[in-house]
Amino acid sequence: MYKFIRFFLFLFNPELAHHISMKGLKFACFCGLLKNKIPSSPTTVMGLTFPNRVGLAAGLDKNAEYIIPLSKLGFGFIEVGTVTPKSQPGNNKPRSFRLINEEGIINRFGFNNVGIDQFIKNIKKAKFNGVLGINIGKNFDTPINKAVEDYLICFRKAYRYAGYIAINISSPNTKNLRNLQSNKYLEILLKALKSEQKILHKKFKKLVPFVVKVSPDNSNKQLDSIAKLLLKYKVDGVIATNTTTDRKGITSSRYSGEEGGLSGAPLNKKSTNVIKYLNKILKGKIPIIGVGGIMTAEDGVEKIKNGASLIQIYSGLIYKGHRLVNELCKATW
Ligand SMILES: Cc1cc2nc3c(=O)[nH]c(=O)nc-3n(C[C@H](O)[C@H](O)[C@H](O)COP(=O)(O)O)c2cc1C
Repeated sequence: MYKFIRFFLFLFNPELAHHISMKGLKFACFCGLLKNKIPSSPTTVMGLTFPNRVGLAAGLDKNAEYIIPLSKLGFGFIEVGTVTPKSQPGNNKPRSFRLINEEGIINRFGFNNVGIDQFIKNIKKAKFNGVLGINIGKNFDTPINKAVEDYLICFRKAYRYAGYIAINISSPNTKNLRNLQSNKYLEILLKALKSEQKILHKKFKKLVPFVVKVSPDNSNKQLDSIAKLLLKYKVDGVIATNTTTDRKGITSSRYSGEEGGLSGAPLNKKSTNVIKYLNKILKGKIPIIGVGGIMTAEDGVEKIKNGASLIQIYSGLIYKGHRLVNELCKATW
């Protein structure tokens, strides 16, 4: 069935296909056509109970507009965003490209989103009672040395409504954002977020874990220093990984020269290597959410074997459809 849907959707450019599929999903949900048939197999990570290990990665529902329809696809958790303090249009179009033969996607959206206030209104409207991750970032025009303020604004506003909060410092599409992974900036950011978490924990009598999303393009040395800080500030989790700027393996593709982050099958090995390396140094002290190029059930199992407690998909959903969620859940019970 998804083969036909995919054939139809791939007639359109990726961004338009995305809007058509989201509207279609919402309509199908409204008509009662979506039934989550995946039996629950609960697992507890970061103090949260997940009905299964398979989540939706950030970026697909940037404005938290499709939480309920997406949850009906069987995901154990949904991560929405990246959201920034103010709304922003993102980069010029076209900004998303399908590498069909390689089962990859290159995107350079640049955090197009409605801003945190409208985003929270959307979450409230959804009345979702599953695990919701809220992925936060900085506005494109906020200087990097003021980025902490942007994260704190979103962190405070998202706290009450989040199962967990993901700190996105690894998108390649916002200038200098990845510099926040360097020792100098990361220490300041983690310190500020940890102390804010303590304040909000007291205020709302609810501890919302926060996780840091890292890039697959860090060297082992960079991962060492990131891990050191994650341990020092007792960060609750790490998401490995975001998209890559590496074009190895896709050089013959028509779109390989496009700027942006590459996801899907060509990212798989690279992201698994990061998970494996982080697992070696974190020694189970901080849970890892594995994401990057999961296109089959075996890919998901591989991420778990290499140290991920939970997994997420984005590109796999586009290429394989929601059947993949079901297959991953079964394979990772
Ligand atoms: C079109 C697109 C938009 C994305 N937007 C975001 C985003 O806003 N924030 C984020 O943290 N990651 C974003 N990502 C990265 C994904 O969450 C994920 O980390 C990455 O795509 C690797 O997973 P995959 O190979 O399963 O797609 C985006 C990915 C794609 C393909």
